[in-house]
Amino acid sequence: MSEVKKICVAGDHAGFELKGIITEYLKEKGYEVCDCGALEYDKEDDYPVFATKMAKSIAGGECPKGVLFCGTGVGASIAANRIKGVRAALCFTPEMGTLSRAHNDSNILVLGSRTTTAETSKAILDAWLAGPFEGGRHERRVKMLDA
Ligand code: RB5
Repeated sequence: MSEVKKICVAGDHAGFELKGIITEYLKEKGYEVCDCGALEYDKEDDYPVFATKMAKSIAGGECPKGVLFCGTGVGASIAANRIKGVRAALCFTPEMGTLSRAHNDSNILVLGSRTTTAETSKAILDAWLAGPFEGGRHERRVKMLDA
């Protein structure tokens, strides 16, 4: 039997539509997707709420990885990276996705809905999901982040 691939998603109103598109894409790829919200569109909602919820579930080991959204990706990144153990990487290209896994062992991919198209987002996600952590000298550096 194949292992269940689990991943969580979260985002505010600005990331709501892209979160839906990427959720469907992840399901097509065989992932079990856990949605940390927003569960409905509300233009008054606040990105720290959803970013923090996802970050805590990753830091607590409930979910191994997540994809996080906001308008630029900046606010969500700042919020998620305040939680110890989280390495949220805002990526604009597939190469950034690959390198954020290889060098930073990123456990959250952050995408900006106002800066990145759905097609580019899928390409970044593919690269990020495929990319193994290289370890070695990068392991030492990653350990320093939480020391
Ligand atoms: C919401 O309008 C927007 O500020 C938010 O999604 C994000 O881009 C913040 O960094």
